[in-house]
Amino acid sequence: MDHATLPVTVHWARTVPVGALADVLTLGERDRAAAVQNEESRDAVASSLVLARTAVGSWAGLDAGAVELHRHCPRCGSRAHGRPSASWRTVPDDVRRTPTPHLSLARTTGLVVVATTRAGAVGIDVERRADRVFGGFDDVVLAGTEARPVDDEARLRTWTRKEALLKAAGRGLDVDPRTLVLGPGDEPPRIEEAPADALGGPWHLQDLDPVEEVLGALALRAHGPVSVRVTRVQLAGRR
Ligand SMILES: CC(C)(COP(=O)(O)OP(=O)(O)OC[C@H]1O[C@@H](n2cnc3c(N)ncnc32)[C@H](O)[C@@H]1OP(=O)(O)O)[C@@H](O)C(=O)NCCC(=O)NCCS
Repeated sequence: MDHATLPVTVHWARTVPVGALADVLTLGERDRAAAVQNEESRDAVASSLVLARTAVGSWAGLDAGAVELHRHCPRCGSRAHGRPSASWRTVPDDVRRTPTPHLSLARTTGLVVVATTRAGAVGIDVERRADRVFGGFDDVVLAGTEARPVDDEARLRTWTRKEALLKAAGRGLDVDPRTLVLGPGDEPPRIEEAPADALGGPWHLQDLDPVEEVLGALALRAHGPVSVRVTRVQLAGRR
């Protein structure tokens, strides 16, 4: 790898039942998962939390138990939702002195992904390729100047690109996605216009499909060539 490249790691995993993660989840994480009504979503939430701690821990050669996750909402200040971050729990002194990486996570049916990097703020999003978008998508998501997508796959592309950027900016849908103008979803990603106050760059934006049936995008606030390593994690039984 060229020394000048900015490394990003994307970990992905098939979701596993929350019960299979019982001895890995913290008490707080168990409570959080238990509060989710839908079983599939509950498994995805639990899986994403373990994957996120696993992904951060791997930067120091440590397991998920070495990592604590946090959230912070830039809009209301809540620590119960919003942009994720991580800190070290009980780790050797040399690790404690090293920064935890920036991280971003996303869930879709049956699959979770986590992007980590020390290069800058990062955002990731994934959707199932076969999914259909909600009615009125173009009116809610697209700027007036953006071309109408050729099909729903192109819409999902645009959606994941916008979500990845908005997550990397720490704002999510607190920012109206119509203020962000991208090139067509069936072409390579291109940022044509981004609101400077909410989305100050520079930005690297690329598509990232962890598996054939899932499409996604990755955004990194940084300038320079980016190298992305994609790695699969088997979740059940991890500590
Ligand atoms: C970011 C967002 C688009 C993701 O929603 P989604 O498509 O349902 O879910 P995904 O699986 O793609 O991603 C979920 C993750 O997004 C991340 N996320 C949430 N808010 C975020 C933010 N402001 N910045 C960056 N990432 C954020 C979290 O890590 C979240 O995981 P968690 O639920 O375990 O905390 C949505 O949560 C959002 O817009 N949130 C902000 C809305 C807001 O600001 N509301 C004001 C509240 S006061």
